[in-house]
Amino acid sequence: MLVLGIETSCDETGIALYDSERGRDRPVEGLIAQALHSQVAMHEHYGGVVPELASRDHIRHVVPLTRHVLDQARLKPQALDAIAFTRGPGLAGALLVGAAAGSAMALALGIPAIGVHHLEGHLLSPLLSARPPAFPFVALLVSGGHTQLMHVEGVGRYRLLGESIDDAAGEAFDKSAKLLGLGYPGGPALAALAQSGSGARFKLPRPMLDSGDLTFSFSGLKTAVLKLVRQEADRDSHARADIARAVEEAIVDVLVAKSISALKRTGLERLVVAGGVSANLRLRERLDAAAAQRGANVFYPEQSLCTDNGAMIAYAGACRLALQGNDAHATGNSYGFAIRPRWNLVDAAAD
Ligand code: KG4
Ligand code: ZN
Repeated sequence: MLVLGIETSCDETGIALYDSERGRDRPVEGLIAQALHSQVAMHEHYGGVVPELASRDHIRHVVPLTRHVLDQARLKPQALDAIAFTRGPGLAGALLVGAAAGSAMALALGIPAIGVHHLEGHLLSPLLSARPPAFPFVALLVSGGHTQLMHVEGVGRYRLLGESIDDAAGEAFDKSAKLLGLGYPGGPALAALAQSGSGARFKLPRPMLDSGDLTFSFSGLKTAVLKLVRQEADRDSHARADIARAVEEAIVDVLVAKSISALKRTGLERLVVAGGVSANLRLRERLDAAAAQRGANVFYPEQSLCTDNGAMIAYAGACRLALQGNDAHATGNSYGFAIRPRWNLVDAAAD
């Protein structure tokens, strides 16, 4: 099965081709072409994503990038067996672009259009790495909009173990970065600055660290960061880097503690980390060390597949197709491209 994946939920237009026959033994080998257009340069000027501009930019790129990946693979559209697009969650206008383009192409070609849950794409993306995890595993999903721990038994078999009751971890990185005067997207900028900082100088709160459950809360952190920035940022040449390091350590500490606690509770030995924040090197270093102490293993997506991309949507679409066959209802499709800007992954899997 040859699946075209279209990701347009936020600020990246990602398109990819996944061939499930070629990926049968090693999923990464099924990824035969991919292209990504990032809107970072466009939104940077405004300090964050401007939804209307995002939609318009997706419109400009979705068809040319689709042509590009087909050319890359030397294939004609008629070779496609299905088209997967991100159905939600995300920005409504941005989602509509991928849904409309994907459904229109699928209708014209007479093939299924599959509405994929964006977080399912992230969750399955480590399977596209050189060292893919086996099921079952605990998944830590850490993106700009979500922080969730899931018990994953297989494709479509997800149980929520805990999540953030307010801001996501990525949001905490982004908001703290903004307070430090760093550009958008803040996570990578803050992480870069933190590398030259000292973790010993400032101590920030670790929200919910001892809550005894797998719930996260990051909204209080930004108030503490604001106070610290006001009091200390201009004190000396190291202060901003030291604050960045303190922010990173606080977020990472909580993510590591709750992930290890999820492994303990479930008795599982594999932890999968996915979503934009999984690119964070300090998080990887700390998780690897903590998991090793328990004899557990941690799996990540390749760096290029941590943030939004078309490959994870093509792959998730191919997995859904394998699971549900061509049944239009089961694959969330009737060419009506009903998008779901707010959509819960556990509900989506049960749909
Ligand atoms: O998964 P993603 O690309 O988009 C959403 O689905 O939200 O995640 C984007 C988030 C942003 O909050 C961004 O700042 C964060 O991931 N991020 C990072 C790093 N790279 C991306 N946060 C910390 N360290 C990084 N290296
Ligand atoms: Zn994402």
